[in-house]
Amino acid sequence: MGGRERFGNRAAVIMAMAGSAIGLGNIWRFPFIVGQNGGAAFILIYILCCFLLSLPILFSESVIGRRTSRNTVGAMEALAPGTSWKWLGLLTVISPIIILSYYSVVGGWSVEYLYKSLTIQFHPDNVEAVTGMFGIFTASGFKVIACLLLFLGITAGIVFAGVKKGIERFSKITIPVLFVLIVVIAIYSMTLPGAGEGLKYLVHPDFSKLTPDAFAAALGQSFFSLSLGVGTMLTYSSYVRKDENLVVSGAGTAVSDLLFAILAGFAIMPAVFASGIAPSAGPGLVFETLPYIFAKMGTGGVVISAVVAILFFITILVAALTSSISMMEVGVAYLSEERGLSRAAATAGIFLFALAVGIMCALKGSVFDFLDKLCSNFLLTLGALLFSLFVGWKMEKEDVKDELTNGGTLHTNAKLFPIIYFLIKYVAPVSIAVIFISGLLG
Ligand code: PFF
Repeated sequence: MGGRERFGNRAAVIMAMAGSAIGLGNIWRFPFIVGQNGGAAFILIYILCCFLLSLPILFSESVIGRRTSRNTVGAMEALAPGTSWKWLGLLTVISPIIILSYYSVVGGWSVEYLYKSLTIQFHPDNVEAVTGMFGIFTASGFKVIACLLLFLGITAGIVFAGVKKGIERFSKITIPVLFVLIVVIAIYSMTLPGAGEGLKYLVHPDFSKLTPDAFAAALGQSFFSLSLGVGTMLTYSSYVRKDENLVVSGAGTAVSDLLFAILAGFAIMPAVFASGIAPSAGPGLVFETLPYIFAKMGTGGVVISAVVAILFFITILVAALTSSISMMEVGVAYLSEERGLSRAAATAGIFLFALAVGIMCALKGSVFDFLDKLCSNFLLTLGALLFSLFVGWKMEKEDVKDELTNGGTLHTNAKLFPIIYFLIKYVAPVSIAVIFISGLLG
């Protein structure tokens, strides 16, 4: 495919992939799941999950993407022409667009909450009213849709600008900033009086909580967090240069994502406990509990609490954007390469589709919940399982090795290859199938 864009260098690859990975999943789900499932004990199995199961899936998607330099459907067509594997390609065009639709609703909420923090609405005089603000806001259909439109519009603008000038540039600037912001917020949060309980919630190891459900939670969370099983990492890898080391960029992405999730835990939970509120996950945590905390903190200094609130909602918004652009890019690559649309038309098409579905999600909580469950509990895991089966059982082992070792020139990778291949071929699919089926039965 002549003229196809490529990421400039390793930093660009890791920033773009980490940008996709770091998102709402790290901020509003990880800290809560950790506390619910045994603190440090859970973090330990989460790390194992990341490196033994998720990383092999990331390598699988990278191998397919970089080898073919094509979108998900084109890649399947190139590696397994005329087979039913093309359905995997199609599935992984559709699932990120569905995720984009409801994810953008939350992105829209962050736009509104950034505005609320900029206009200092989480004020100490307002403490009692703050938690109710979310219900009032989400009930106002017009405002929610306007924010959704804005968020999706920014996403489309970045994607339309292209892989290098849009996605690469945006991620390269914002990811380091996100890390600085989350560290600043974590330091502040950990120095609040009473923060110790929050730290205990995160790190106190309780091995009795490591039930089969905890393993399923770790797996599901690490797939969602690393954007796996939905073709995003495949598509981004198709823009990676042939001389890049896929093992290093994949591992760099996984480590960044993990680090950010842990930092988010330290940023959020100490503040939650310091204010004496029971921790929760999801919208309740970010859009009700935290604004309440910001307002309450204001009694000790309005300016500092306003600044922390602003930094926090900038973090949420930017983290959501670096993820949403990756979801949109999957469909744009497909429509422009396989269906002959211009980049502008492809971007506009996905934008309109996601907007339509997003509006339904914004207006009906049941649609939002259904699509979220369908994707995070089912499509993502299915896609991840099929990618590992494809690379482990359908592709030639020599081709996989060739791609992961850059034609045998990367000696360390060549030494690691038997382990990586074993994980891709046996460990990942068997573990995913067991956890997936036990989840369906349970
Ligand atoms: N990894 C993102 C997060 O943790 O919020 C979510 C995500 C991004 C899922 C991209 C799927 C995807 F294709």
